Amino acid sequence: MRRKLVVGNWKMHGSHKANAELLDGIIAERPFSAEVAVCVPFPYLSETAVALTNHDIAWGAQDCSAHAQGAYTGEVSAAMLAEFGCRYVIVGHSERRAYHGENDQLVADKAQAALDQHLVPVVCVGETLAEREAGQTDAVVKRQLSAVIHTLKACIWQVVVAYEPVWAIGTGRTATPEQAQAVHALLRTQLHAATTKSDEMKLLYGGSVKADNAHALFAQADIDGGLVGGASLKAAEFAAICRAAG
Ligand code: 13P
Repeated sequence: MRRKLVVGNWKMHGSHKANAELLDGIIAERPFSAEVAVCVPFPYLSETAVALTNHDIAWGAQDCSAHAQGAYTGEVSAAMLAEFGCRYVIVGHSERRAYHGENDQLVADKAQAALDQHLVPVVCVGETLAEREAGQTDAVVKRQLSAVIHTLKACIWQVVVAYEPVWAIGTGRTATPEQAQAVHALLRTQLHAATTKSDEMKLLYGGSVKADNAHALFAQADIDGGLVGGASLKAAEFAAICRAAG
């Protein structure tokens, strides 16, 4: 049986003071039976590492460069993240695809760069509202995942996949458990064709996950936890989501 995983994505939120309160609050809510992680803005990795060391909560970043090193002003390499003790790095979040022009191949290259440094990439896929309404959901998520499968080849089993329908992110409009499960099942089938370890892989759902809908989502056969945005900024709510996972 797959152990559930809940990852908080703080996005561009936080301050020294707010982070300390949030992390203290989450630590106070332990233990969790699910695996728990927070993905924080780069400048806060150091204090997050200090706060979470020895508390059985992992941490990570929200992006990394596809390059190992070099003249890439403003970029942060996976090796740098590894130096800060990161376990996870989100790649291909829809906000990066939409606002920073990241395409499927760049996302796949970032996933590869993360694996090269023994980080676990959390690869995000998901359709826009227009794509869903045009009946393109399956084709879009398959195309996005296919680029990563093609690039990572036999190593694909080492990634976590997060299905995040763009229309559900930050909108309060969650996919129904059945809608989410249908896409997760499709992704698991696609992974099954690429690796013998597809049954061990974690597929997370993201998009307006809250304490009151988490349990029904996580009860679905192919939903192995959540990637949580807004609700990960409140310790009690995030902890409730983590408990709903196991
Ligand atoms: P919300 O939980 O705020 O909808 O964000 C989801 C998300 O984008 C997590 O990566």
